[in-house]
This record gives sequence, C-alpha cells and structure tokens, in this order.
Amino acid sequence: MANVAVVGAQWGDEGKGKIVDWLSNRADMVVRFQGGHNAGHTLVVDGKVYKLALLPSGVVQGKPSIIGNGVVVDPWHLVGEIEKIEAQGIAISPDVLMVSDNACLILPIHPALDVAREAAASAPGSRIGTTGRGIGPAYEDKVGRRAIRVCDLASEEDLKVKIDRLRAHHDPLRAGLGLEPIDPEALLAQLMDIAPKILPYVQPTWRVLDQAIRAGKRVLFEGAQGAFLDVDHGTYPYVTSSNTVAGQAAAGSGIGPRGVGYVLGIVKAYTTRVGEGPFACELFDEVGTHLSTVGREVGVNTGRSRRCGWFDAVLVRQSVAINGIDGIALTKLDVLDGLKELKICVGYRIDGETFDYLPSSLRAQAAAEPIYETIEGWSESTQGARSFKDLPANAVKYVRRVEELIGAPVALLSTSPERDDTILMRDPFQG
Ligand code: GDP
Ligand code: IMO
Ligand code: MG
Repeated sequence: MANVAVVGAQWGDEGKGKIVDWLSNRADMVVRFQGGHNAGHTLVVDGKVYKLALLPSGVVQGKPSIIGNGVVVDPWHLVGEIEKIEAQGIAISPDVLMVSDNACLILPIHPALDVAREAAASAPGSRIGTTGRGIGPAYEDKVGRRAIRVCDLASEEDLKVKIDRLRAHHDPLRAGLGLEPIDPEALLAQLMDIAPKILPYVQPTWRVLDQAIRAGKRVLFEGAQGAFLDVDHGTYPYVTSSNTVAGQAAAGSGIGPRGVGYVLGIVKAYTTRVGEGPFACELFDEVGTHLSTVGREVGVNTGRSRRCGWFDAVLVRQSVAINGIDGIALTKLDVLDGLKELKICVGYRIDGETFDYLPSSLRAQAAAEPIYETIEGWSESTQGARSFKDLPANAVKYVRRVEELIGAPVALLSTSPERDDTILMRDPFQG
C-alpha cells in the first residue's frame, strides 16, 4: 500500500480538489504541505458545491486532515473558512482538523504588502498578478527567520518580542509604499483574540503523521498550485512563493521522502493559467473562448478569468520529471467535446532553434512559439462518462497520445465536476 501525493502538473486549477476529494475515501488522512489560501479548490458532490482554499479537501468526507508545517496559515481566514464549511453541514472539530504547530502565520500586514506592491508595480512586467492573499510576504518572513508561527499564539510574551522584530523589518518597507507603520498593540490584540480559536487544532503534526504511517495508515498529500508556479521550477518570477512539486510533500509535512509514495499528477486536458507570465500555447481565438466558457475557467478566489490554450505536452513531460509523476489524473476531457480538431504542443521554436523542454530564462520562455501536432476531435459527448469504453474512439486516441507524449500513464480520468464522474484506470494507492 502506497501513500499518494497529488500535485498540479501545469499552472494550477487542474482539478486537484475534485480528485483529492474522490481519493480521500480510500485514505485515512489528508495533508496540505505548501501554499496557503491562495489555492481555490472546487468540489461538487450531488450538485452541492464546496469551495476550499486552506482546508484540506479531505474534510468534506470527514477524513482527519492536517495543515502541515509547509503551509502559511492566515488564522482569521481559517476561522472564517471553518465557519463557512460548517454552515454547509460539514462538522470540523479538532478530531478532523489538525494544524501544525510550526507552520508560519500570514498576518494582516502580509496581504497589505502584497496588494500595495502589486498596485505600485508600474514598470513593464513587474506585476505578478498575485491572489493578493499575502503569500509572498509571509514566505519572505519565514525564510527571513522573523515569522510568527502557530505555536507562538500560546504566549503573549513571545508574540510581543516577535512583533517588535517584525516592525524593524516591515516599517521601512511600509513607509516606502506609503503605508502607516505597524500598530504593535493593535496587532497583538488581534492575535490574542484569534489565538483561542486556533489553539484547539494545534498539534506537532509530524508526530501524528509518524504514528499514523507506523500504524500502516494511508496518507494522501494534497498539493496546491502547479509545477510551473513552483518557486524553483516555474516560470520565475511569475510563480508563487513555495515549492509546489511532490518533493515538498515530505519537507512540508515532516516525513521522509520514502513516505510520499505514489505521485499522481493532475493534468487538465488543455492548459490554463491565472495572473501574469509566459504561456506559449495561449489562445485568443474562438477556441480560447470555447475552453474558457465551456470549461467555466474563472478563478475561485479572485474571480479573474483564466487564460486558456491548447494542451502543452512539453510542459507536462517536464512536470513528470520534476515531480517524479507515476501516473496522472486527466481532467476536463469533456470540455474538448465538439471541437473539430485538437492541437497538442510537442516542441517550441525559440529564436530559430527547436526545444523539447521549457528553458529557464524568462526571455526564452516569453519568445517560445509552440510546435503543434493536430489530432481529429470528436462530436459525441464525454460528459459524465463513467467507463473508458464509453468514450468516443477519437477521445481514446487523444488520451493515448497524451500518455505517449508525456511519458506517464493515465490512472484516473475525470469527465465532469461531480465527484463520481471519475473513471479509475489503476488505483494509485496500490502503487
Ligand atoms: P484545483 O485548484 O486544482 O483544485 O482546481 P479548481 O477547483 O480551481 O478548478 C477546476 C475546476 O474544474 C472546478 O470548477 C471543478 O469543479 C472543475 N472540474 C474538475 N474536473 C472536471 C472535469 O472533469 N470536467 C469539468 N467540466 N469540470 C471539472
Ligand atoms: P490552486 O491550488 C492558479 C498564481 C497567481 C499568480 C501567482 C502568484 O487553486 O491550483 P500568489 O498569490 O501565490 O503569490 O500568486 O500564482 N496562483 C494560482 N494560480 N491556481 C492556484 O491555486 C494559484 N495560487 C496562486 O494567480 O499568478
Ligand atoms: Mg484552483
């Protein structure tokens, strides 16, 4: 029995939440290991829609769920999200939700800085198009060794010392952006007010996981964002501020690398991205409009339209390598229904040279022109299909060609937003 790590293989929004929710009834525990409430995961169960940002998707099935040390936690957002999901009839108690004591906090100063920087970014190319949730500034404080952590919420004295340390760094930055200095008393009062609402969930979660793994429990690691938003491997600087690749599942939850198990890449049958940054296969024609409207490609968090384009096999093949993907869940195949012909990017032309990978330089990424191969589409509906043999012959051909080009097999196929419109080809938990 393997543990399973679910990771986004493109630029996020591949349908990770749906797949994690579906897989979580085969798991004993679900763990988020990076990112924060910049994530937006939509789950649809019998027509009822759940939108999660920070809570692991396992909570909807009542699975014990951990917010790991690699996550940046906005405690006010967390309390709000728990209330929102409880109002939908899902009970969230400390038996279901555990928050790592060594995770770092997102404070109100972080979204303020995030938003002020984006607003001030006037030079061409300097705006990232962040979610405005304070993710970047919170991770900066983490690696700068001045973050307030979840465990600090238990001590007013520790909070005071740490707020002073934050002021020394942040006040000059804030002044440069025209923001008032931090009000230390107000921030302390806010933290002391939220602390008792968070502390009941707090645990040394690495230990909870260690005991679970030793007892033979099956763990499902839930990634947020996608490989090309990874701070190392993505289209830097148009990335998020954490490692999103499967390797982070170990460090971001406090287990060894062998504990991660099977790596399931979530892959959309075409490509989307939100925010700024290079996107070689982006479409501005009626096919782009088809993908955006039929696929309902609107950001969960920010309501922004997602940019849409053809399937980029070069990108996903690279993702298979940097994540160590064992198999993929191919989602949103139904969105391609009715398109006469389909294109798949199989290489890039950059300044007259051909590439079978995405080079690291932003200049090269921005100059990359896709080399396409064309495949015949299908007119039949695949929407809601629950068996591979129900798929039209050309849809099967498309799936097989994708597998061949990316070098990984399809383990799961998703044909609608509904939980059960999912075809299992091979069980990731069986390794
Ligand atoms: P995540 O961030 O990776 O969890 O993905 P999002 O939830 O942000 O975006 C995926 C969107 O596609 C959601 O609205 C899902 O309900 C929807 N979705 C997931 N799988 C499918 C599918 O197979 N077909 C269709 N049409 N929609 C899907
Ligand atoms: P899920 O988990 C898609 C993008 C933002 C922006 C960049 C940096 O739903 O797949 P940040 O706020 O993280 O500093 O923004 O990353 N981004 C996402 N795009 N899906 C997400 O999460 C994303 N989380 C961040 O749009 O381009
Ligand atoms: Mg999303």
